[in-house]
Amino acid sequence: MENKTTEMTYGAVPSTEPQRQYYYIEKAKEYVRDRAQVLNRPLTFCVNTFGCQMNARDSEKLEGILEAIGYEKSDENHADFVVYNTCTVRENANQRVYGRLGYLHSLKKKNPHMMIGLCGCMMQEAQVVEKIKKSYRFVDLIFGTHNIYKFAELLVNRFESERMVIDIWEDTDKIVEDLPADRKYPFKSGVNIMFGCNNFCSYCIVPYVRGRERSRNPKDIIREIERLVSDGVVEVMLLGQNVNSYGKNLEHPMTFAQLLTEIEQVEGLKRIRFMTSHPKDLSDELIGVMAGSSKICPHLHLPLQSGSSRILKEMNRRYTKEQYLNLVDKIRAAVPDISLTTDIIVGFPGETEEDFEETLDVVRRVRYDSAFTFIYSKRTGTPAAVMEDQVPEHVVKERFDRLLGEVQRISEEMTSRHTGKVQTVLAEEMNSHDASLVTGRLGNNVLVHFPGTAEDIGRLIDVSLDECRGFYYMGSRITKE
Ligand code: 5AD
Ligand code: SF4
Repeated sequence: MENKTTEMTYGAVPSTEPQRQYYYIEKAKEYVRDRAQVLNRPLTFCVNTFGCQMNARDSEKLEGILEAIGYEKSDENHADFVVYNTCTVRENANQRVYGRLGYLHSLKKKNPHMMIGLCGCMMQEAQVVEKIKKSYRFVDLIFGTHNIYKFAELLVNRFESERMVIDIWEDTDKIVEDLPADRKYPFKSGVNIMFGCNNFCSYCIVPYVRGRERSRNPKDIIREIERLVSDGVVEVMLLGQNVNSYGKNLEHPMTFAQLLTEIEQVEGLKRIRFMTSHPKDLSDELIGVMAGSSKICPHLHLPLQSGSSRILKEMNRRYTKEQYLNLVDKIRAAVPDISLTTDIIVGFPGETEEDFEETLDVVRRVRYDSAFTFIYSKRTGTPAAVMEDQVPEHVVKERFDRLLGEVQRISEEMTSRHTGKVQTVLAEEMNSHDASLVTGRLGNNVLVHFPGTAEDIGRLIDVSLDECRGFYYMGSRITKE
């Protein structure tokens, strides 16, 4: 129930979004202003992000709301409000959060005004929330992945209740548009195109914590990108757990390839990236659009997970080793020189030496530009967690090291194949070790360091790739506009 003073000052609480949240932003602002007056200094925040690019984008939204409320950005040690946006894809991500909560508690004892918020994927697990309620009672606010847009409202609840506020939704069909976001980079931005995942790969917890697949309306996506471009953005990264199934559940269904074609037409936008692609849904139409595009970067992240058709079946990936290799051939034929990157899991239950050899075989045949390699992590509630034949730790470790060695050897060879060429680099930041250099990215996502100044940041610059040093290049400028 709303209290009287609030209604008199602000009128009735709007029932539609995002208006409701703008109402709560105003209300939260008052609380923050009052506290700042008492302390005689501004209130500060720190949002700490774990996990993937989806979480990174969600954190920009949280930061945007906090800044609208009147908080100022700070580091964890000096913040009045610390938010952890958590990941739970592997168990060690959870352990890290528990470990750091102990440290946050010690900070809170020193600063009685401090608040701690936890959100993101880990909070969607009932046993995690139970554990926090029981053993980490100093936490102030817990919410999940489906209701981050309600952050301001939840914060007001916390200011008014003085007790731990918990709001977790099991799933949602709602997408709330047009809330503030504080972008990390002025010249590039992530753009969500869909949320959730319907694939239920047998090892993966994501479908349980991010809910069912929901695509954003293409008009909303284009409008957001147009706004970003008019605000100085030249590169967008389209984000979704499985972008290749974009649009299937829209009122007027459309394909990801069609969406890309529309985005390509946004004037002023220079580069388009996307992730992640599921091999089972990667269409010829998409390959055609990539081949004909001048803006889509020549990079495809195509998670393999395993090279063994038998394990892929157990993983519920719905492609075989041969289908994956054929797909790679098709892509390379259409987009020569494309960079391919991947994710691989070692030690899935029942993985034999022969299965693992199949994975090595795919790695050697595809020759990835880079690969993220993971040790299988048992996630409670997933089908794989109860599979027999979990692989002993020492066997997994030994395979992991072999895979990593192979991936790195090939990656170095692949990365260096552009030596001597001239390519366009998006200058992203000043080099942290040498103030005479800027660091940027090639279309294929590889880093390049080259002479430059702060004025170059955010600009596309032609650079000669003089020398490859493992995973990055040292370059020199060709033109100066
Ligand atoms: N164990 C290890 N790696 C996992 N991934 C997802 N779930 C697990 C798990 N249970 C990896 C997959 C996915 C990436 C984001 O994380 O390789 O592509
Ligand atoms: Fe997890 Fe598979 Fe969905 Fe990726 S596609 S998020 S690995 S269930």
